[in-house]
Amino acid sequence: MSITGATKVGAIAAANPRAKKVLEEAGVDYCCGGEKSLHEACMHNSASAEEILKRLEENSQQAGPEEANWASASLSELTRHIVEKHHKYVRETLPRVGALLAKVNVKHGPNHPELAKIEEEFAGLGQEMYAHMQKEEQILFPYIERLERAKEGEEPFEPPFFQTVRNPVHMMMQEHDSAGDALKAMRNLSSGYQTPAEACESYREVYRSLAEFEADMHTHVHLENNILFPRAVALEAKIL
Ligand SMILES: [Fe+2]
Ligand SMILES: [Fe+2]
Repeated sequence: MSITGATKVGAIAAANPRAKKVLEEAGVDYCCGGEKSLHEACMHNSASAEEILKRLEENSQQAGPEEANWASASLSELTRHIVEKHHKYVRETLPRVGALLAKVNVKHGPNHPELAKIEEEFAGLGQEMYAHMQKEEQILFPYIERLERAKEGEEPFEPPFFQTVRNPVHMMMQEHDSAGDALKAMRNLSSGYQTPAEACESYREVYRSLAEFEADMHTHVHLENNILFPRAVALEAKIL
């Protein structure tokens, strides 16, 4: 794939796991902002499209064997990976970090009113994510897996009640945008997860965990928005 300033950043991230890292380091949003071209994505960025293209070129030969190539794996392997790795992580992290945030807010809230706002954002994001992952696991992912079996001739194709995969995909992408907004709000409220000088270990741990949660969400949304969903739409178009 030849990459230029006109290539969509989501497609760049999907092409090569190393590219994802280059975009991340340059502060380019390739998940919810994946539809923008590299030029557009760099308009308000400190790194220019030209600099990023140069770094991409330097990194293009270095994809390690441990980085699975989800652009060519089967869709059911990808849905299983998303559920077993990312959905599991979200379900484990939400209650743990929620409880820690509450504890830190009781102690430091009087001096740091942003903690209550972060706690509120995180709780809202959690509620959204539980419902969102349930929809993916119960409706969208099983349909994508059935599409793949139908393509292989393993079972007959049955039209879904939602008519086309584009409908739930559209809805999931809107929900990803909303989750992305909550993550950005928490990052701004915490000044980029910088703890104040007097922060105790729990305070530091909660910011570390929130930053890790944000990174995991970026990878998770990237796998869905930029790889799984476009591949499912293309597969369905071949069958319908
Ligand atoms: Fe998901
Ligand atoms: Fe999702």
